[in-house]
Amino acid sequence: MQAAMELIGVKKTIGKKEIIKGLDFSINKGEVFGFIGPNGAGKTTTIRMMVGLMKLTDGDIRIVGHSIKNDFKNAIAEVGAIVENPEMYPFLTGWKNLKHYARMVPGITDERIEEVVELVGLTKAIKEKAGRYSLGMRQRLGIAQALLHKPSILILDEPTNGLDPAGIREIRHYIRKLATEEKVAIIISSHLLSEIEQMCDRIGIIKNGEMIAIQAVNEANTDSEAKTLSQVKMEVSPIAQATELLKSSFNIDAVLDGDTLSFSYEKAMIPSLIQALVKQNISIYQVDVSKTSLEDKFFDLIGENVIG
Ligand SMILES: Nc1ncnc2c1ncn2[C@@H]1O[C@H](COP(=O)(O)OP(=O)(O)OP(=O)(O)O)[C@@H](O)[C@H]1O
Ligand SMILES: [Mg+2]
Repeated sequence: MQAAMELIGVKKTIGKKEIIKGLDFSINKGEVFGFIGPNGAGKTTTIRMMVGLMKLTDGDIRIVGHSIKNDFKNAIAEVGAIVENPEMYPFLTGWKNLKHYARMVPGITDERIEEVVELVGLTKAIKEKAGRYSLGMRQRLGIAQALLHKPSILILDEPTNGLDPAGIREIRHYIRKLATEEKVAIIISSHLLSEIEQMCDRIGIIKNGEMIAIQAVNEANTDSEAKTLSQVKMEVSPIAQATELLKSSFNIDAVLDGDTLSFSYEKAMIPSLIQALVKQNISIYQVDVSKTSLEDKFFDLIGENVIG
């Protein structure tokens, strides 16, 4: 299956500072991917590169196969995004704001505008001036705008910032709905795990410009032991071959940590995974399987400076 978005060795250096040190991960079609990390970790910088607002120092980003470097126009056509605050005209109604934007992009019909308004639940308020919208409503109008041209991936940088608990609950509700009904992959960044954990299929944790863990979120915390995700650490050789096998046969994005690979996986599936590695003559020196909650793990990895 082709990924909605793929990052390949993405690096960013500004001046002498290496801000992004090499990111390799992909976001699957229809998936909600949480991009978590403390303040200053590099989330916004990465997102600015994903949406073409900033050049990559090294590596590439492919959006449904189109390279952002060599095929910018086709790559960007597949992206919908809100970076920082959505820009809206306060004196125009929600509808007129969308209409104004639609005029700049060919092929957006009134029916499509109605469809996205309905999707984000703004039907009732769409004739009101955007200046009277609450922060949550403005956020939803921004998402409606980002979806108008039917992108394959929607990118939201800290959409829960500044929202009250009711606003956050609302976002949670329609993000899942968008992924299902609009079949769009969504990447959503946050510095608070608790705010977005429930709406994500997978979470990637970034710290100091590096991805330090990628973990699937347990489905509704099922109590069946077999279904519970375990954190797996494996010392293997050759490591590149193992990483590739895990990706191609099991769709696992393993994170390289020294000479160990770490990833999360269903416990019941671990024996078949080991068999597959052995079949390929990959040497396994050590396997460590532990059951930790995402939250424990997050605090372990990030330390105390989470609440920025
Ligand atoms: N234009 C720039 N010039 C120099 N340094 C920069 C620039 N933009 C970002 N940085 C630095 O890069 C690092 C990552 O910043 P970034 O904004 O990507 O973090 P973030 O994860 O989005 O944080 P936050 O949660 O606060 O939004 C920070 O140390 C920041 O100071
Ligand atoms: Mg940021």
